[in-house]
Amino acid sequence: MIKVCSVVGARPNFMKMTPIVHELARRGVEQFLVHTGQHYDARMSDVFFDELNLPKPDVFLGVGSDSHAKQTAAIMVAFEATCLEFRPDLVIVSGDVNSTLAAAIVAAKLMIPLAHVEAGLRSFDRAMPEEVNRVLTDRVSDLLFASEESGVTHLRNEGVPEARIHLVGNCMVDSLFKHVDVAVSRSPWNEFGLEPGSYALVTLHRPSNVDEIEALRTLMATINRVAEHLPVLFPVHPRTRARLAQEAIATTPGVRLTDPLPYLTFLGLMAKAKCVLTDSGGIQEETTALGVPCLTLRENTERPATITCGTNRLVGNDPAQIEAGVAEIRAGHWPTGSRPPFWDGHAAVRVVDVLDAWGAERGTPLT
Ligand code: UD1
Repeated sequence: MIKVCSVVGARPNFMKMTPIVHELARRGVEQFLVHTGQHYDARMSDVFFDELNLPKPDVFLGVGSDSHAKQTAAIMVAFEATCLEFRPDLVIVSGDVNSTLAAAIVAAKLMIPLAHVEAGLRSFDRAMPEEVNRVLTDRVSDLLFASEESGVTHLRNEGVPEARIHLVGNCMVDSLFKHVDVAVSRSPWNEFGLEPGSYALVTLHRPSNVDEIEALRTLMATINRVAEHLPVLFPVHPRTRARLAQEAIATTPGVRLTDPLPYLTFLGLMAKAKCVLTDSGGIQEETTALGVPCLTLRENTERPATITCGTNRLVGNDPAQIEAGVAEIRAGHWPTGSRPPFWDGHAAVRVVDVLDAWGAERGTPLT
């Protein structure tokens, strides 16, 4: 029997890893969960464990925020010690955050087989720290689980052997389908005085949008104008909150700022939004799964299926494109979209099926 170590660290990891941890548990696989502590505020971390029913981490590395090098290095030092103590036979990482890369390098150097969930996504924009994390993590992974067809194509083009690549679908969408009905039944819009189907939901946290102060000013001015037609609810990431305060950037009364929201509250709000404006990666996917119009405040996306199949459009931080997009959505001129292949709520089952076959082939079955 083998021992599996799953690593999480930042908010988007939790929804991707939970269905895999649950599926491993259902099949009786020996496993332990490591939380790096990259995100540590209760609203960015604990609440997700509670709502997703993700077991408490067996090991908490408590690394916290720092520069990229220091954060990545601190996770590596702590995770290496964890691996030496617990001796996992397989490490699973997901997504593209610094915790993903740090854990991947440690596993590779200790010669522990490594699985990457959400492999192969590429924005081809090295100014995004996540792009560096994706490329390097894939480079050292043994099992690469792609969420969409573009991931498979990129991995093939980069010379990854075919046998390592598995198109399994989207684990984040597994979590979404499991929870969306309960999330909507709670009517989270009431808390903010909103009507379902008649508000815009905004999130912003990318350094290119919030650390570049002119970009942030332009975006906030545009959001203020959008709010003249459609009430805006804006749960503010801590990074963004700090910039708005530092630069004294004001919002109009139509824009409601809140702290980061729990998973179920945000999911319910997203499901009944008129539209979503975001620079997040995961929210582009979640809106496509829900069929809700999404304007992505970026020049590129590593998730092209959300555009070709889904409800997403890239608008950068250009006020004219953003306002034109919102006007089209309000007029009802927006594709309803369809879900990319395997975004069906069963991606984690396919991941564990592949792990099962991989273990059997090596003579080390999962159970
Ligand atoms: C990280 C990921 C990003 C992901 C995002 C989701 C990297 C490189 N970036 O970005 O891909 O989309 O998470 O949220 O891994 N902070 C708090 N409390 C917290 C966590 C962070 O106040 O619990 C503040 C700190 O001031 C910190 C800043 O937010 O310096 C940024 O946090 P960090 O984890 O470095 O990056 P994110 O912007 O959250």
